[in-house]
Amino acid sequence: MEKLTEQLRQARRVVVLTGSGISADSGVPTFRDPQEGLWAKFQPQDLATPEAFRHDPDFVWQWYQWRRKRVLSVEPNAGHEALATLAEKHPALTLVTQNVDGLHQRAGHRDVIEFHGNIHRNHCLDNGHEVRVEGHPDKPPRCRLCESLARPSVVWFGEAIPERALERSVAAAQQAELFIAIGTSATVYPAAGLADLARENGATIAEINPEATQMSAVDITIRARAAEALPALLAGWD
Ligand code: APR
Repeated sequence: MEKLTEQLRQARRVVVLTGSGISADSGVPTFRDPQEGLWAKFQPQDLATPEAFRHDPDFVWQWYQWRRKRVLSVEPNAGHEALATLAEKHPALTLVTQNVDGLHQRAGHRDVIEFHGNIHRNHCLDNGHEVRVEGHPDKPPRCRLCESLARPSVVWFGEAIPERALERSVAAAQQAELFIAIGTSATVYPAAGLADLARENGATIAEINPEATQMSAVDITIRARAAEALPALLAGWD
């Protein structure tokens, strides 16, 4: 941890990439955890796709309603909070998250690049109009402007990363002197490719994860949960 703290002090520009592991300490299942309830026999990869939604919009919509409810019922954890505080203290720390749960923002993190969108927003299928959803409908509502179905504003498998999020993340990774991956299995691209970009440009690569991952050429490995390691990193900074 001392090595990472030292690197954090020296690096003028830092990029942090988070995955579902940082929300695990809040009680939100990671993507590779088995699903529960109605969706137990499905992989997220089977549900988080445009095809699944077209095939059965109500079923996919209900899965998102269940996930939204679960995420709103938990709190950001010490990892989210420590990272938000660190971002206030470090002059140039960019956070890119693969998570759609909004927990970084609820922990007070001000500028979050949402690489895979946000589960609390919806837009319509045909034109991308934002759709405000009242109450808890168990069927996808229709867009007031064009009548097409509302869908969660998350990036489904096979869909493009929001352009602005991609641009900002690539630029930050290319200029980073320190890249810290937290709670991600580094299996889904292009998010997982950001570390390669940083490494190619000379960044030190660090990883905070209780398990080994597919990340290659990691310079600093912290085998710990985010809720333990990030408060320790913040304490080392102060
Ligand atoms: N602290 C830190 N890391 C943790 C913790 C924890 N408390 N608990 C689990 N992890 C790690 C796991 O070891 C695993 O490496 O978090 C990682 C979670 O990996 P995934 O479930 O694959 O989640 P993620 O990497 O975010 O998935 C990336 O895949 O399914 C798509 O779009 C989805 O954004 C998601 C993307």
